[in-house]
Amino acid sequence: MHQSCVIVVGAQWGDEGKGKVVDLLASHFQWIARYQGGHNAGHTVVIGDHRFVLQLIPCGILRPNAKAVIGNGVVIDPLALTKEVATLESAGISVAGRLFISTRAHVILPYHRLIETAAENAPGRVKIGTTSRGIGPAYEDKMGRRGLRVQDLFDPPSLRAHIQNAVGEKNAIARALYQSEPNAAREFNAEIIYADYLALGEKIRPYVTDTALLLNHAADRGEAILLEGAQGALLDIDHGTYPFVTSSSTTAGGACIGTGLAPTRIRAAIGVSKAYCTRVGGGPFPTEIEGPLADALRQRGNEFGSVTGRPRRVGWFDVPLIRYAAMLNGLDSLILTKLDVLDELPTIPVCVDLHPNGTPRYEERPGWLTSTVGMTDYNQLPPRAREYLEFLAAKIQLDIGMISTGPERDQTIVVASSRLQEILHDVTPASHAAR
Ligand code: IMP
Repeated sequence: MHQSCVIVVGAQWGDEGKGKVVDLLASHFQWIARYQGGHNAGHTVVIGDHRFVLQLIPCGILRPNAKAVIGNGVVIDPLALTKEVATLESAGISVAGRLFISTRAHVILPYHRLIETAAENAPGRVKIGTTSRGIGPAYEDKMGRRGLRVQDLFDPPSLRAHIQNAVGEKNAIARALYQSEPNAAREFNAEIIYADYLALGEKIRPYVTDTALLLNHAADRGEAILLEGAQGALLDIDHGTYPFVTSSSTTAGGACIGTGLAPTRIRAAIGVSKAYCTRVGGGPFPTEIEGPLADALRQRGNEFGSVTGRPRRVGWFDVPLIRYAAMLNGLDSLILTKLDVLDELPTIPVCVDLHPNGTPRYEERPGWLTSTVGMTDYNQLPPRAREYLEFLAAKIQLDIGMISTGPERDQTIVVASSRLQEILHDVTPASHAAR
């Protein structure tokens, strides 16, 4: 069996810079597929004066020769999707014939968003700090076998029946969570939702197909497929910092389930991590820092959520965390982003170990106090920046295949003779490499 599939995953709590990475790697692949999550993700790609924030459509769509797939494991808000298509089209990027959406992906409906907000604020519930996009409740319905799939949007009588049933139930749940009497203003109207979603279904219909079949046929022809993870390993529903996690399998295993591509087709898994660490939402974060240093790092790294605008929590690079992510995902290589954000620090703590009580043990590395912004050549980096990278690589026992030194496509160091280059060379069909 051809092993032409490569998975890219976040190795921390999301926001590692996967958007830029996937955009860069996409030139080696014919297909880019999302396999989990939804529009809770915000993958930012900067091309010249354009800043694209893609939430549902794989970043590969920005490469004219690539085809983009939204796999069965994704939960889709059709409203968000149609807006994203319109934004791309208005920027001159046509998705026609290049975007494929799974018939089996589940649909996010308005009541999912409301129930999430209600649950986040309900007394006695743990506040997760979600993105309020209805992701969790949509996955709950999927696992509860009462979800609505994309293909169901095309069958009016059953769509209407589904929504009528669901609305009755969801109104009752919302009332219980809000601990309120029936409030007509806040109650959902099944007929309105039905009409809206029937119309939205028609809009996305041209893109909808059996994507598992499509991807498997492509893989049979030896075409290269990049599987684009959203969020990060520590937000995985099983392996993350539960309950402060998202509701899907963000780790490499999720890529097979969320696309229908078998594990035997996977050639490699690549992790993406910042040169430090961030997290949004609640939950444990061992290397978190606060105060003026945290504020400075947050400003310099522009650490504000691309979807919600929330300030991100910031902290130091955490070796045990990356080792854990490497184990869960079977990482072959790591791509390190935002190295330049550390340029002004005289010393840089790195968590090398955890004490038995869970507090980090740091080793301080000397800073380089020189700008690395936009550097493209490893040997051009200040010696102390190289030392920092070599220190990290030795500690995490992983190849560092690429380093990002700014948001632009060309602000990137490709590490020659890295394992990453070997992998890209192996999966890229000769016909594609020549382009
Ligand atoms: P949800 O995915 O909206 O249910 O949120 C669950 C947790 O995952 C919260 O802590 C969110 O902040 C976090 N989260 C969800 N999507 C992202 C993302 O794309 N980047 C970073 N954190 C995310």
